[in-house]
Amino acid sequence: MSGIKLLGTGSAVPSKVVTNDDLAKIVDTNDEWISTRTGIRSRRYCAEGESHTSLCLAAARQALERSGVKPEEVGVCIVATLTPDYLTPAAACLLQRELGLSEDTVCFDLNAACSGFVYALHTAECLLAAAPRKYGLVLGAEVLSRITDFSDRGTCVLFGDGVGAAVVEWRAGYPSLHAVLGCRGNDEVLYAPGVHSDRPSYIHMDGQPVFRFAVEAVPRCAREVLSKAGLGLEDVDRFVFHQANQRIIDFAVKKLGIDPAKCTGNIEHTGNTSAASVPLLLDELITGGELRSGQRALCVGFGGGLTWAGALLELA
Ligand code: COA
Repeated sequence: MSGIKLLGTGSAVPSKVVTNDDLAKIVDTNDEWISTRTGIRSRRYCAEGESHTSLCLAAARQALERSGVKPEEVGVCIVATLTPDYLTPAAACLLQRELGLSEDTVCFDLNAACSGFVYALHTAECLLAAAPRKYGLVLGAEVLSRITDFSDRGTCVLFGDGVGAAVVEWRAGYPSLHAVLGCRGNDEVLYAPGVHSDRPSYIHMDGQPVFRFAVEAVPRCAREVLSKAGLGLEDVDRFVFHQANQRIIDFAVKKLGIDPAKCTGNIEHTGNTSAASVPLLLDELITGGELRSGQRALCVGFGGGLTWAGALLELA
């Protein structure tokens, strides 16, 4: 058996808090509709002087510092994102320069939408097995406010900005993530056209089919990870599900028959931050003392692609 453990996390959220009441001044909506349908009360947007790059740098520095890992010890750096500042250079390449990672560090961005962080964790686990240095820096980072259509009340109330970072270590003898990744190609129910498309680069979403997809995918993926690991639901200390909608999480909790107290989230003040959602929540749970050394978190992401990804992450 070989795999990775989580050494430490970091996070960075922009300074501007946007409440449901603030959005009600822009589109025909209200706090009651948004909070009862989604669980969201506020989210953060990048303000002037804040960017994907600046948030990534702050979160990565914090994760490295808390882990006691030096930049030159990092072997792999992956940023999961669909909203980087540049198509090229990758956000991970900018981190290489700003953090002073060695030039032979494998640095790239990965787009698996809201499943991106878990996709990146698994990718880091595989790459670190072959890398000369066994520490990985993995980020989930989004500035979704840049691709939000503020004339569409069905989507603009959902998304927020933020970055979560994790430092992991690969060792022979460490447990595998037992990752389960998948995708069902679909560009109809959830998509954001690229900059060269003739359609506007905003997020488009048909909420109900995405909802139906999510409530099926999350419990299925969680069970598949546990079956791969030969463990049961009772062996999990924390369920860290992508924060897309509180109702989706409630459905998953019910379908799996797990204790809701092991599945608390942060969507109320983050909104849906896509790839950043899982690492932001991990960071919040760890800094709040709710997830501790030696414990296991079952992380599940799902979203655009359509993709899903689950992994069992143990804290060193
Ligand atoms: N404020 C007020 N009313 C709104 C609204 C808003 N922000 N957005 C939509 N509505 C209205 C609709 O226009 C519709 O009105 P109508 O009945 O007069 O036509 C009504 O509310 C119901 O809309 P509907 O889209 O059926 O709502 P819903 O219960 O499906 O909830 C979502 C919408 C987006 C919250 C829900 O579908 C969802 O969460 N889907 C999954 C989204 C997700 O997780 N995406 C990310 C995956 S990573």
